[in-house]
Formats: sequence, C-alpha cells, structure tokens
Amino acid sequence: MNTARFFLNLASLPNSVSHYESEQGHAYLVSGLDEVRMVLEQHSDFSCPSHPYRCLYGLLSPAGCKWLGITSPTIDSRVFIQKIHDFFKTHSGNLALCEQSINSGIPISEGFYLEVKAMFLIFSLKLLFDFDLKENATEISQASCVIEELRARFGFASPPDKYKYFISQERVAKRILNKLAKDIQTHCGKKPSDAITHAIQETILNAVVPLAYTFIWAILLLGRDEHTQYKILQQRTVTNFSRASLLRGPCIAAIKETLRLYPPAWALGRTCTNVKTLGGHVINPGDAVIISPYALHRMRSYWDKPGHFLSSRFESNCLKQTSFIPFGAGGRICPAAQWNEIILVKAVGYFIERFSFSTKKFPREKPLVALRPDRNFALSIYRR
Ligand code: HEM
Repeated sequence: MNTARFFLNLASLPNSVSHYESEQGHAYLVSGLDEVRMVLEQHSDFSCPSHPYRCLYGLLSPAGCKWLGITSPTIDSRVFIQKIHDFFKTHSGNLALCEQSINSGIPISEGFYLEVKAMFLIFSLKLLFDFDLKENATEISQASCVIEELRARFGFASPPDKYKYFISQERVAKRILNKLAKDIQTHCGKKPSDAITHAIQETILNAVVPLAYTFIWAILLLGRDEHTQYKILQQRTVTNFSRASLLRGPCIAAIKETLRLYPPAWALGRTCTNVKTLGGHVINPGDAVIISPYALHRMRSYWDKPGHFLSSRFESNCLKQTSFIPFGAGGRICPAAQWNEIILVKAVGYFIERFSFSTKKFPREKPLVALRPDRNFALSIYRR
C-alpha cells in the first residue's frame, strides 16, 4: 500500500489524531478539522521543517516579487492573465506528441507526461525569469523526474554507494539542472552563486511539478467525463480575462475536483516545538505531525461520494472548508494559490478547446515529492 493510501486508512479511524511509528520516531496524522486548523495556524507550536531555499527566496506570488533582482511592477492582474493566456494559446495546441497520437491513433502516456511537464517549465521560467528555455525543456523535465524519484527513495541525502545506477542518474540530472540554473542567472546578468542556483532548482521542482501533475490528472479525469468536457467547452473559458469570471464555472470546478482527488502536495509535515495535547495525545517536541490533504479530501465524514469525480460539487463556489486544502492553509499557505487556479483554468481550457480526448487506461497514484500518476496510463487525443 502506498503512503497516501496508508494515511487515508489511518484518517478513516474514528480518531481526530492517530499515532503511528515512522522511520524517524513518533508521528501523528491529524484528521480532525479543529486540530488541522490548530496545527496550520500561524504561530502554532508546530513548525514547518526548514526548507531554506523556498523560504529564503520564497516567491510571494509568481509575478509579484523580486526574484534574482528582477523587480516586477505592481501586478496588474489583467496584464498577468493576458500573459498566461498568450502562453497557453500557443503552447497547449503545440504538444508535438499529441500530434503524433492524432496522426497514428495510438494512445499516448510517457511522452505526454514529459511534454506537459516541459510546457509548464517553459511557462514558469518565462514568467519568473523571462528566460526562454528553447528546445531543452524535455531533457530538463526528465532530470526533474529523476531527482523526484531519488528524493522519494533517499530523502535529501545522496544515494548510498551500493546504488551505482542511481548515483550515475543523479549526477546527470544534477548537472542538467545546475546548468539550467546557471544559464538563468547569467541571462539575468548575475554571477551564478550556489545558493541561487539551488533556489532556482527548488523552484523548478516545487512550483512546476505540481502544476504539471494537476494538469495531467485533470486531463485523465476529464477524459472519462465527456459531459464535463462539453460543459467546459460551452463556457469558452479561454476568452475570459477577469479573475472573477475565470474563478467561476465548470472549468475551475473541474480543477478543484482534480485537486481534491489528487492533491500534488499530498502530505504536509510539521514538527512539534512545545509539548502539546492534540486529540487526546500528548505530543512532544521533535515529534512529527502530518496533515494529509489526500486523506482529508477523501474522508467519508467530510465528503459525499469521496471517490467519485463530481466537479459539480464545486460549481456553487460555496465550499470553503478546512477539509479542502490543496494549497495548505494558515501561515504557510501556498502564495501562488490563486494564480495556480487561473493558470490551470487557462491551460486546461485551451486544451479542451483544441482537443477532445478519452482516457483508455487510468493510472495509479504515485506519492513521490508530489502526487503524480504512475506512467502506466493511456490517453487518446483527437483534434476538434
Ligand atoms: C498546483 C500547483 C501548486 C500546489 C498544489 C501547491 C501547493 C502548496 C502547498 C500545499 C504549500 C504549503 C506547504 C506546507 O504547508 O507545508 C505550498 C507552499 C509554497 N508554494 Fe506552492 N503549490 C503549487 C504551485 C506553486 C507555484 C507555481 C509557486 C511559485 C511560483 C509556489 C510557491 C510556493 C512557496 C514559495 C511555498 C512556501 C510558502 C511558505 O513556506 O511560507 N507554489 N504550495
């Protein structure tokens, strides 16, 4: 059983907090909504394990802050949306492997996967650094997949000596990501520094990967739901430019429902800093406390038919509960939350406008750094 499923089973017990033993010692999974709020609120006794690069150079919003000395003017959301729009108008119709599938009729998987990741890489680097990735995107997608797999196996440590194959894979992937980060800095007129190189790599892994996976899950889920595809097509999402109208209707509802079933950030970790009683357990400093959006989003006590893809549940836009936290909550909520939704509405909207698609084989979920589909899926795509 994968860890995400393990959390779901644990959360389904009638406790608001469940104890389990992890490799690092005592750990607690929190599934009661009051307790979730207590853990995530700002200045709680549960700190976020340090993530120096994301915090130190953290982006306050993808467009809105200084990054490597690039100052963006006050964000005009319409201008920003226009940028997102222009990008996906060109790129979501240009997925070369989709073309291959359309021409041959053969369902696709692996290539689509890398190509979607490449599309979001090109997008993010253009938006964040004004950097044009050109033809290297697929190679960099592949390198980010390797690093993700290795982190899931070995954490932040390098693979032990006996894993020669992984060591060589890691070396190649790191070389590719390093070169990219240094090229970006040179492009921005900076002398490459190790700290910023690392920060750029973390941004690629932490920001691009969840966007790409949400897109792929959304296409796979919609590929089994022709009715919702049609509803989205009718809404003509792509012609909308106001933030309010983009965040209404069937497309955003489908994206939220995708994020409910397959939240890329499937587990949020905290460390207890002061002795605390939570859900009847005494939690000691150093103990791990986990909140799993994946588990919360699938609990029967919070959701009707939790295993079904029913995007209509988000259409009324009144579902604002702690049991739906794809972007986290409280002090460390994802600063890009609203932008992510707009980016995904544009990306999925344009894709649906160009292609109809059906899922031939639905994948299992693979909880690595982010919750991704394993590559054993099949999708047929047809130009409209
Ligand atoms: C679908 C896409 C995304 C998802 C699902 C997502 C999810 C999350 C979640 C759950 C957290 C909170 C982690 C925690 O509480 O431990 C987080 C934090 C963060 N996210 Fe995102 N994210 C996405 C895209 C992005 C993008 C595109 C950017 C920037 C360009 C970004 C930048 C950040 C940063 C800087 C933090 C750290 C905030 C802090 O520690 O105070 N994220 N994200």
